Amino acid sequence: MARRARCRPGPVRRLGRKLPDAPANLTDGGVANTNIIFHAGKLLALEEAHLPTEIEPGTLATRGYHNYQGRVAGSFTAHPKIDPVTRELVFFGYNAAGPLTPALSYGSIDASGKATRFERFEAPYASMVHDFIVTENHVLFPILPITGSMERAMSGRPPYAWEPDKGAYVGVMKRSGTAKDIVWFRSEACYVFHVMNAWDDGHRIVADVMQFEEAPLFPHPDGRPTDPEKSRARHCRWTFDLAGNTDRFQQTYLDDLTGEFPRIDDRRAGLKNRHGWYACANPKLPMFGALSGIVHVDGNGRRLGHYLLPAGDTISEPVFVERSKDAAEGDGWLLAVIWRARENRSDLAVFNATDVEAGPVALVQLGHRVPDGFHGNWVGTA
Ligand SMILES: [Fe+2]
Repeated sequence: MARRARCRPGPVRRLGRKLPDAPANLTDGGVANTNIIFHAGKLLALEEAHLPTEIEPGTLATRGYHNYQGRVAGSFTAHPKIDPVTRELVFFGYNAAGPLTPALSYGSIDASGKATRFERFEAPYASMVHDFIVTENHVLFPILPITGSMERAMSGRPPYAWEPDKGAYVGVMKRSGTAKDIVWFRSEACYVFHVMNAWDDGHRIVADVMQFEEAPLFPHPDGRPTDPEKSRARHCRWTFDLAGNTDRFQQTYLDDLTGEFPRIDDRRAGLKNRHGWYACANPKLPMFGALSGIVHVDGNGRRLGHYLLPAGDTISEPVFVERSKDAAEGDGWLLAVIWRARENRSDLAVFNATDVEAGPVALVQLGHRVPDGFHGNWVGTA
């Protein structure tokens, strides 16, 4: 299940220690703590600096790294995309030529679990790339200026830092093409940890993301913190015109709410969606407060409803579960973990996904606190 937290991604590591029951071949301290997915019959725990860690369904015993019969190596994003039509899994990795390098890897795994491609290419500069964008026909690689620098790291300065002068690049590639065909679009500096969804719209590509004006969690190269007023994410639409005569892409904020952890009904991944959800901060509380509510939006980011917790309580990423395989888009539930501050314990909350305003329709009241976490997914038995 999902957990609440700001996403503090990978390679600055030290997020956790190797688990005591981890197999001996997990020698580099991977904690597999960012996301968990189910694809081609395998339950895979993900953390972006490592290969997927296979988990045994039922017992949750750790089986070890899964490298797709030796065809995939190195880092592997915690945010791969599963094509809802073909069941193909599309992934990338950054630091693909070693720590703090500008190399990215890209690959795909077919519905049977076989690696069908794996290649590497150079990005404009070394950066932290937490998520990427996949549509029915395209894959997009955001290179945004939380930059990585071995020279800084070796001199005791921040290995990752906010360098807006580097600008924002997004590489656009056809899924049927190769890395040699990537076209780089540019825009004002920003940072994005998470993409809600994206789709092809004629000669355009539209991507809805949670965009920060300045990077959170990481300092300037000299160690100064970034501006907290700008280090908050808002729902934002990126538009790429593949037929235009410009290499610029457009960025348009869709709301002013502070939010993170966007999700959709994953049966619309890469296709135009009509529903989306994300965790939000309470706008009546101090602006940069913790995530304490859920927003339901339509396909253009317009709020259809929202729910706010009592002051002090916090909430995780909302995970969508469809009512049935053939239910209409958005017809189902949201699962989220709520931390009850006064009692210091957690509830697993179930919301009607199309009526979050009504509050949870069911609560699994836990006698303990569920620690903050990042992402999750529902895996049914059928
Ligand atoms: Fe994430």
